[in-house]
Amino acid sequence: MKILGIETSCDETAAAIVEDGKLLHSNVISSQVDLHARFGGIVPEVASRQHILEIAPIIQRALSEADIQFDELGAVAVTCGPGLAGALLVGVNFAKALASSLELPLIGINHLEGHIYASWLMGLDPDRNPGFPLLCLIASGGHTDLIVMSAHGTYQLIGRTRDDAAGEAFDKAARILGLGFPGGPEIQKVAVGANGSEKLPRAWLKGTHDFSFSGLKTAILHKAQFAGIYPFDEANQVDYNYMIRELGAAFQDSVVDVITRKTLEAAKVFHAKGIIIGGGVTANLLLRQMFREKSDLPVFIPDPVLCTDNGAMIAACAYYQLSRGIESNSKLDVYPSLGLGTDVAS
Ligand code: KG4
Ligand code: ZN
Repeated sequence: MKILGIETSCDETAAAIVEDGKLLHSNVISSQVDLHARFGGIVPEVASRQHILEIAPIIQRALSEADIQFDELGAVAVTCGPGLAGALLVGVNFAKALASSLELPLIGINHLEGHIYASWLMGLDPDRNPGFPLLCLIASGGHTDLIVMSAHGTYQLIGRTRDDAAGEAFDKAARILGLGFPGGPEIQKVAVGANGSEKLPRAWLKGTHDFSFSGLKTAILHKAQFAGIYPFDEANQVDYNYMIRELGAAFQDSVVDVITRKTLEAAKVFHAKGIIIGGGVTANLLLRQMFREKSDLPVFIPDPVLCTDNGAMIAACAYYQLSRGIESNSKLDVYPSLGLGTDVAS
């Protein structure tokens, strides 16, 4: 079955066609990054308006790149939460209209669950090999969650951030270093070639599977102030490039170290057979390398383009939901604070 997956929860207008939850036929993503960059963050109203302009052409492109017609679709899936209310509304309303006019099943998808299902798009079936339970890490702009997945659709949240999400921390640290938005890829770029002269703290929150990144954010702010690179003043006699590289690398090391170790530890505690990672921060090259090097368990690492927001993960997730007989109807709403495991069938 070919499913159209639509994603508009934040600043990407995305649509994809996925067959049987695994086979990717097309994956079209239009990022609004440039539009929001000058504000240093996402402006919800601007995001909603841009989704309205882009959604129809993006869906058309997803169909034409997959070389299929509307009548070959088996279902329409859409992110209904969590995310920005106005942005979600664009996708949900469009999906409702499409599903109704094509007389297709409509499936509302939890964005976080979508990030988990990106791992099913890599040509492997984590549910069969190694099988459940799987330990899932979602590290994005809004979440840093550890979840035990014991079956399709069955989740237990075992850890989460107590303050900033990892991606949010990357974005704030990048701003302190005078880098662009989103901060994660910018910090990854500047950190290349650092000699490790700077160190930043790690919050372990021992005895829990929770995370905390706000202390790290304060630590990098103080170091940047002390080094004379924040606030920016061209009169300061500082090697800006050197300090930005060293502090950026120290920040990245700290986030990656904590996330990797705590995920691996949780996998042991919960006797997971494998690890799934997803969300924008898992596009980070150092993080991916650390998981590959340090894990004794199989780790499913989606291609970077499937880690950040996309419609393919929504379509993949929808296939498994539909297989369990879970469908939405025309009453489907948007749920900006939706948690994992909440039923949004209608
Ligand atoms: O999953 P995502 O695309 O959107 C949300 O659902 O939030 O994640 C976006 C976040 C941003 O905070 C961005 O800075 C971060 O993911 N990110 C990265 C990298 N690429 C994106 N963080 C670290 N390294 C990267 N390469
Ligand atoms: Zn996301």
